[in-house]
Amino acid sequence: MLTIAVSKGRIYDEALPLLAEADIIPIDDPKTSRKLILKTNHADIQLIIIRATDVPTFVEYGAADIGIAGKDVLIEHDSDNLYEPIDLNIACCKLMTAAPTNAPDISGRVRVATKYVKTAERYFASKGIQAKIIKLYGAMELAPLVGLADYIVDVVDTGNTLRANGLEPRELIMNISSRLVVNKASMKMKHQIIQPLLDQFEKTLAAR
Ligand code: ADP
Ligand code: PRP
Ligand code: MG
Repeated sequence: MLTIAVSKGRIYDEALPLLAEADIIPIDDPKTSRKLILKTNHADIQLIIIRATDVPTFVEYGAADIGIAGKDVLIEHDSDNLYEPIDLNIACCKLMTAAPTNAPDISGRVRVATKYVKTAERYFASKGIQAKIIKLYGAMELAPLVGLADYIVDVVDTGNTLRANGLEPRELIMNISSRLVVNKASMKMKHQIIQPLLDQFEKTLAAR
């Protein structure tokens, strides 16, 4: 059995055509089904539907052979125990700092609200800025509006969410896209099924 871990929402939606090019078609639809294991048109290939931040964990421990995860999630997960062979170039966005529009830069220690704690710590340290990182699980944009933080670190695509909340993008931390990750043991043990799959993904991406 080959198990592929994906999150529902934009990664699932954007991965579907890639999987289809590799002749992997899920039978259930996570939008209408509550099932967490999706059968496919191949008896020996299944998809598991998990939270985006859990994908590296499932793949690292071999609970899934393959996964699709955002680079933001992978750098925050911070593990050497995963192969990351392909940039799938889907779910593209930017990891950025943001602050209230026109707010002056802060000298001295800053408060930063984010779900990307490690990444934010490293980023502010690399800039020589002292930062208190405040861990949130969502709605980061709210933090500066209610005085919880001076900055946020979050992913930005159109900028609509920032604008709608009176914030503006400041510094680019990293361009983000989703990556294919592979469990190291699976790569060896299931090479015969995984390698052709990787080749097909490469082929599809090259043609895009
Ligand atoms: P979550 O429940 O973790 O927010 P999402 O499906 O929103 O799950 O995000 C999954 C991945 O998609 C993120 O890790 C990031 O790489 C990327 N992403 C998040 N928000 C956006 C966006 N607005 N536009 C494009 N890509 C995004
Ligand atoms: C993501 C992210 C931002 C927003 C950025 O949220 O957390 O809030 O997208 O995109 P934009 O620049 O195009 O507005 P998402 O839509 O994933 O909602 P979530 O809170 O459920 O993660
Ligand atoms: Mg999201």
